[in-house]
Amino acid sequence: MDDFQYHGQELFLEKIPVQKIASEIGTPFYLYSYNTILNHLRVFTNAFKEIPHLICFAEKANSNIAVLRIFIKEGGGLDIISGGELYRALQASADPQKIVYAGVGKTRDEIRYALKSNILMFNIESTQELFVIDEVAEELNTKARVALRINPDVDPKTHRYIATGLKDSKFGFSIANAVQEYQLAERLENIDVVGIHKHIGSQITQTAPFVDAVEKIISLADVLKKEGIDIKYLNVGGGLGITYNDESPPHPKELAAELVPILSKTNYTIIFEPGRVIVGNAGILVTKVLYTKMNEGKNFIVVDAGMNDFIRPSLYDSYQRILPVTKPEASDKITADVVGPICESGDFLAKDRILPNFQKDNLIAVMSAGAYGFTMSSNYNSRCRVPEVLVKDDQHYVIRKREEYTDLIKGEKIPEFLNHG
Ligand code: LLP
Repeated sequence: MDDFQYHGQELFLEKIPVQKIASEIGTPFYLYSYNTILNHLRVFTNAFKEIPHLICFAEKANSNIAVLRIFIKEGGGLDIISGGELYRALQASADPQKIVYAGVGKTRDEIRYALKSNILMFNIESTQELFVIDEVAEELNTKARVALRINPDVDPKTHRYIATGLKDSKFGFSIANAVQEYQLAERLENIDVVGIHKHIGSQITQTAPFVDAVEKIISLADVLKKEGIDIKYLNVGGGLGITYNDESPPHPKELAAELVPILSKTNYTIIFEPGRVIVGNAGILVTKVLYTKMNEGKNFIVVDAGMNDFIRPSLYDSYQRILPVTKPEASDKITADVVGPICESGDFLAKDRILPNFQKDNLIAVMSAGAYGFTMSSNYNSRCRVPEVLVKDDQHYVIRKREEYTDLIKGEKIPEFLNHG
């Protein structure tokens, strides 16, 4: 988080005081650093420069079209999960030949859209999906390039909601049936088998699960070769963790030190799908203290951002650092919960945290909010979604404006029979 630094009492992002942006656009808002995103991307791609590879940024982590454009300008690709993400990717002028599409529930319409857009490949997650893609490709008189998503049954040692490569997970094909499924795919007229895909989970803080999973899919690729099925791409997914609190996940270079020796023995083009590691620590959520209160001896700091704006603490019990945007003069601390305005007890950003003695109107930075922050936000309690702002050096750019009340009812309609009079 080198681009987030205090100068004196003030938290800066790159060369701008966060407070200055807040006074201009109001709170709450997401704030991203262009230079951090770019730097993280370059660090990742440099770590793997010895092997032919394509980085497909996982759009679900942060799908603002300005953010996507940063990757696209650097020659990167995108990993998508829906027709909506494909639409965003194309709006940001992504090269379709660098788009890979995963997900257990792709609809016919989404498949058609992706085929017409000529994306690089589908990461297929079930036999029925394989048949549907074959049918839609036939209708369109084209061939669908595919990888099968293989579930290698490796424990990523992360939160159970974000572990995806275990035996009982809904994702992909079990490795035990993989060869059969590949043989089936090979026989389909309108399917062109080009790769293997795996993604075992997110916020992974060790190298061993990656190594285990990669070794397993390389062995599978060897078996496939013997069966006459030659693939070109090995997609190793995303999942590398970041530091939220005291985690020490491997640096991309450390991961590369373990993976490159294994991968460089093969001739595959390697696809990576990092999300969090690129944008997580490149963004914060800025919020303002509305009120402070004490109930039964417990302190509450009520802020203007809630679980609808940032759901990670409520959903995963995630730890997000809480920092003052302007350090208070007084050094006294309190133990408090930082809570939002939503009508749910689960609406909190931090629990039982030792914090500066925040006062009404103080600004707070919720750190490490650049990944799965805005993209998971909602309009719950009819709250307008907040703006997203990108900082580059000493300039800031609103890359998504604050929603207004009219946005809240966009598309809603009262049927005739309910009209009064
Ligand atoms: N590839 C696939 C197929 C994925 O499903 C994901 C994330 C990624 C790549 C990127 O993973 P990353 O590098 O960001 O770990 N909302 C949760 C995380 C859900 C991750 C879903 N899949 C959170 O806030 O922790």
